[in-house]
Amino acid sequence: MLATPDRELGRLRAQARAWAPAAAQLLDQLGVGPGWTCADLGCGPIGILDLLARRVGRRGRVVGVDRHPAALLTALDATRRLPNVALVPATLPTTGLPRRGFDFVHARLVGQEAGAGPLLDEMIALARPGGWIAIEEPGREPWTIDPAPADYERLASRVTGRFLRRRSAIGPALIEQFRRRGLRRIGSRVHRLEFRGGHPYAVMPAFALAGARTWLVARGVPRPTLDRLAEALETAATDRRVRHQSFPLWQVWARRPT
Ligand SMILES: C[S@@+](CC[C@H](N)C(=O)[O-])C[C@H]1O[C@@H](n2cnc3c(N)ncnc32)[C@H](O)[C@@H]1O
Repeated sequence: MLATPDRELGRLRAQARAWAPAAAQLLDQLGVGPGWTCADLGCGPIGILDLLARRVGRRGRVVGVDRHPAALLTALDATRRLPNVALVPATLPTTGLPRRGFDFVHARLVGQEAGAGPLLDEMIALARPGGWIAIEEPGREPWTIDPAPADYERLASRVTGRFLRRRSAIGPALIEQFRRRGLRRIGSRVHRLEFRGGHPYAVMPAFALAGARTWLVARGVPRPTLDRLAEALETAATDRRVRHQSFPLWQVWARRPT
């Protein structure tokens, strides 16, 4: 998480809302429904807890896990009307949750930080035999902005290149990880969002640049270049003439063998 938790939590809530239709499609496809027991690992301030809670109903149960206290407090507030949601502080990949205890185990945009391989092992351990596992992680292509601010494409591809070196959490690589672990009925789908400046999620490139700033400075990118780009990205986030296309989000799902 970044140094300004309120803005970061706001960005994560906007992110969860932006990807909610994709997540809903995934849950519909897997048939997540009344009475299911589900876990959302690295749920942040909401993740897909609300989507799960509505589907599983009063007979079901949803557990959200995160290590960040402010994220869990926000999630607690956001789910206070959903009595079937419980929140657990834990540092992934360890959760302390019951083995073989869940019909569905989900994680989105956590693999980079928690380590995709160990996270997947924990998810498999949590799923009951025959239960479903789903991971959502970005693909290789960067977020595009049209018109692109000066230096954006060059620096975005450097930041994306850095991210790609930790390959195991890249969407397409997940399929191989699922296969190696003997999971069944593996499926995948890729989503990409398009919108204009003014959309709440259009703040993402400015956040990504802020997160990569120290790394870029250490590699010789002049601070004034980064300052100018940061300003241009703030404008691109609000200017309705600017088109954004998000990074692709890979959804990969499978069943634990019975
Ligand atoms: C990019 S956010 C994604 C939030 C949510 N999954 C979503 O997609 O809306 C990553 C979240 O994972 C949590 N996280 C990252 N590494 C973690 C770890 N090792 N253990 C527990 N939580 C972790 C962060 O605190 C943050 O809330």
